[in-house]
Amino acid sequence: MTVSVASTPAVGPDTSAAGTTADRDGLSVWPRSATPAADADVLVGGVSLTEAADRFGTPVYVLDETEVRERCRSYRTAFPEADIVYAAKAFLCRAMVRWVQEEGLGLDVCSAGELALAAAAGFPPEKIVMHGNAKSPEDLETAVRLGVGRIVVDSTSEIARLAAIVPAGSRQRVMVRVVPGIAAGGHTKVRTGTEDQKFGLSITDGSAQHAVARVLAQPRLELVGLHCHIGSQITTVKPYLAAVRRLTGLLARIRDQHGVQLPQLNIGGGHGIAYRPGEDTLDVPVLAGRVRAELEEGCHRADLTVPRLTLEPGRAVVGPAGVVVYRVLAVKRTGTRTFVAVDGGMSDNPRPALYGVRYAPRLIGRHSVAPPDLVTVVGRHCEAGDVLADDVPLAGDVRPGDLIAVPAAGAYHLSMASGYNLVGRPPVVAVVNGIARTLVRRESLDDMSRRDVGL
Ligand code: LLP
Repeated sequence: MTVSVASTPAVGPDTSAAGTTADRDGLSVWPRSATPAADADVLVGGVSLTEAADRFGTPVYVLDETEVRERCRSYRTAFPEADIVYAAKAFLCRAMVRWVQEEGLGLDVCSAGELALAAAAGFPPEKIVMHGNAKSPEDLETAVRLGVGRIVVDSTSEIARLAAIVPAGSRQRVMVRVVPGIAAGGHTKVRTGTEDQKFGLSITDGSAQHAVARVLAQPRLELVGLHCHIGSQITTVKPYLAAVRRLTGLLARIRDQHGVQLPQLNIGGGHGIAYRPGEDTLDVPVLAGRVRAELEEGCHRADLTVPRLTLEPGRAVVGPAGVVVYRVLAVKRTGTRTFVAVDGGMSDNPRPALYGVRYAPRLIGRHSVAPPDLVTVVGRHCEAGDVLADDVPLAGDVRPGDLIAVPAAGAYHLSMASGYNLVGRPPVVAVVNGIARTLVRRESLDDMSRRDVGL
């Protein structure tokens, strides 16, 4: 059975982590360090975005290091008793690995590639959680070889495959990913708590219980707990409470059936952020209080010891820390619409095309007195669906050469970037204390042509 506790539409007062309802000069969904400067410039981490655009070229992704670190810390403060594991799929590079490690978080990876990057950057493997609905032999072998802390089993066939590669005399810790039957999340494509999607093992049809029995029967596997991830861009607490209830119930049934009390519960990530001023965000301290109470009550009722919690936020750690700056290449005024075409698009941000997500672009670096027009900001790619922001207000005299900045660009942009039209993926620049440094350089034509080895 699926309980529908879908999160509310993304409108309402700004309750972002900044804890303010003021719009901060239209910068409420920007990094907290963002401040307006002369000539309509904006400083992020003390760095002028127009200077960054000149120095690094456009498009450029600017990542506020302090914002990322503070977001990591605020999770640790809200959940001091839990493991906070950053979901690398939101955005990963070596610096990100370092920041997350220094702030005391673990890391969630879902491929041998993410795992290898984390390991190469020196991340302690025991603090890594490995995910994937279809882990390749390479994924599993790399995870076992490097000694990741936990592997989350997502299909029955994976259990024997995994057990077979664990060396004699050692035991791999695993969790079982459960489908709790809860509909939540910003878009159907990111709802993963229901029966009708590819992730996890159902409680309703008994596959979760079956997988638990199979893992318990494998001497080289140690079942440490249950996992669920109900979806992404969730802005209310309720679906998480429902998930905790369902999983606590299953923990009790496992105890009754197998006589084992699993010591861990991982409730995934999915914490929603605001992409535009006024949108809701998930209130993490409120989540912490309510989840803790629900878990303690449920365990008390079922006579279970309270398991250690794990959470896996991705977007809420890095999303609000990123700003992308594009340059306008063309402005086309048709009878009914104005198209403002920039030098990036769906190859660096596929989210509007995939999920219909709406962003709040801002003209920077030139003060305009022209009244705002409703325009459509489009990318440079060869399809009409390459729209970055539809019907957004921009200065009526917007013109080629102008700079357009888009906040809340830190998560699921570059990690989902593609090679479409061989445009090349933009660089990532970290800003902190007035200093900008390149973390990931721009992808060059040379990078792209190197892979093209045949004739
Ligand atoms: N844990 C697991 C097992 C996940 O699958 C995910 C995300 C997370 C944690 C982190 O979720 P977050 O806190 O970032 O919402 N591309 C989509 C989002 C896909 C999320 C996939 N899984 C987007 O751009 O909105």
